[in-house]
Amino acid sequence: MKKNKTKHPLPRLEDSSGFRSSLLAWYDEYKRDLPWRAKPSLYKTVISEFMLQQTRVSTVLPYFDRWVNKFPDFQTLAVASEEKVVKAWEGLGYYSRARNLHKLAKIASIWKTPPETVKEWKKLPGVGPYIAAAVTSIALEKPEAVCDGNLVRVLTRIFAIKEEYKDGATAQKKLHPLAQSLIDHHRSGDYNQAMMELGATVCHRQSPLCLTCPVVNFCESGRVGHAENFPKIQKKKNRKKSIQRYWVENEDFLLLYSDLNSKNKLKGIYELPHQLPESFQYSSGNIESLGIRKRTIGNVDYEEEIIRISAFTKESSQLDSDYLWADSEKRKEISLSGPHRKWIEEISLRFL
Ligand code: ADE
Repeated sequence: MKKNKTKHPLPRLEDSSGFRSSLLAWYDEYKRDLPWRAKPSLYKTVISEFMLQQTRVSTVLPYFDRWVNKFPDFQTLAVASEEKVVKAWEGLGYYSRARNLHKLAKIASIWKTPPETVKEWKKLPGVGPYIAAAVTSIALEKPEAVCDGNLVRVLTRIFAIKEEYKDGATAQKKLHPLAQSLIDHHRSGDYNQAMMELGATVCHRQSPLCLTCPVVNFCESGRVGHAENFPKIQKKKNRKKSIQRYWVENEDFLLLYSDLNSKNKLKGIYELPHQLPESFQYSSGNIESLGIRKRTIGNVDYEEEIIRISAFTKESSQLDSDYLWADSEKRKEISLSGPHRKWIEEISLRFL
């Protein structure tokens, strides 16, 4: 028997066309001058949206410019080596995005015409509902709404939605129909970008700028100064994980590690080793802590203690291919994890 699920009707704005025109007028006047918005193209939209997923605009800006200089179109990207592609992504994190983008470029380079629907885009490597809607609306003017963290904030505030979501991803999924119900059918790409822009530049997580918000009159919570109460998302406690990393140097060379054979996301990205080759031997007198570095990846808080081990010689051991002795020149060439590059630069001022 079919379950009789009651569907709650979507909340509605009394004057949704007034909302759209106020939002778009604000966007036309105040939108940021971003490089993917100048002479837009399908390629630039795909690259920028891959980069912007999980990363803020200010971080993406220098990467985007370097990327389009190096790989100006799908064809150039398609024929580049994976090593070069991953190297150009170095520091943006979530490296599977770079590998998927590379795979997508290989497919796109032989398109006669690009796919036009969200359904078709979602079949492509690395393309989920967000990228599919962003690309089809921005580059192909299809009326497909995006629903990212910005939209969750804006929508839950406008409608003062009291529902508590398990996490951000659930909120995005559940609020997508509402986002879709509001989209502007004539300027869908601009509308989506305007909503994200509003979330990023006005409707801040903390201290939102309701006084200057172009749509405050439409906003149930902002009008009464309660915007900060939304969205309601359960707070998750992050897991904690401690890792030891080894700093082993020999003259100008530093020992690095990358799991080259695994299917691991970090394949080919070098880090300070978290394990040492079996042939390495050292005595406890040669160990010194260089301090603990903290970072959060997803919902795990990492504490990484860097331990310096001295009294090695570079030739003293047969390294397997996952290990590499790299001097400063070599370190420029290879892909290093972003935080590790920063730590290495910081520590090498002391030792190398
Ligand atoms: N965040 C992700 N994509 C964006 C875009 N195109 N404009 C503004 N913010 C964004």
